[in-house]
Amino acid sequence: MSRNIVVIHGPNLNMLGRREPEIYGTMTLAAIDAALIERATAVGATLSTFQSNHEGALVDVIHGAGWAADGLIINPGALTHYGLSLRDALAMLKAPIIEVHISNVYKREPFRHTSVVAPVATGQISGLGWRGYLLALEWLLGEE
Ligand code: DQA
Repeated sequence: MSRNIVVIHGPNLNMLGRREPEIYGTMTLAAIDAALIERATAVGATLSTFQSNHEGALVDVIHGAGWAADGLIINPGALTHYGLSLRDALAMLKAPIIEVHISNVYKREPFRHTSVVAPVATGQISGLGWRGYLLALEWLLGEE
């Protein structure tokens, strides 16, 4: 079971709730983070969340809090499709990494069908809305 979990949100996810709600829903990032913290806390785990619109800032978080974590959840936003320094930072980690997408990227534009992160992730959840984050958390909490 992962007890020290880090959640990382990439570019534009700070706009959740207002950003294309027909695609991403109406939950704000703050509400998603609060739901994740509530669930982790209820089972005695700690969970911290980060968001940045800058790839280098996300790499810094991975080198710091990400390195110390024993489970990661990441929605890399559009960096999913081309963010090679983000991918390389994730590749250093030994802890399980779950890649989450709110929308089903495989039903959308062709450029969203490629993930440079997927080959270094443990698994991927795509298209289950904001609750994909909660499902990723349940997996990390239940992992042997
Ligand atoms: C996303 C899908 C990406 O293609 C997009 O660039 C995002 C959000 C998702 O959660 O569905 O910013 O990662």
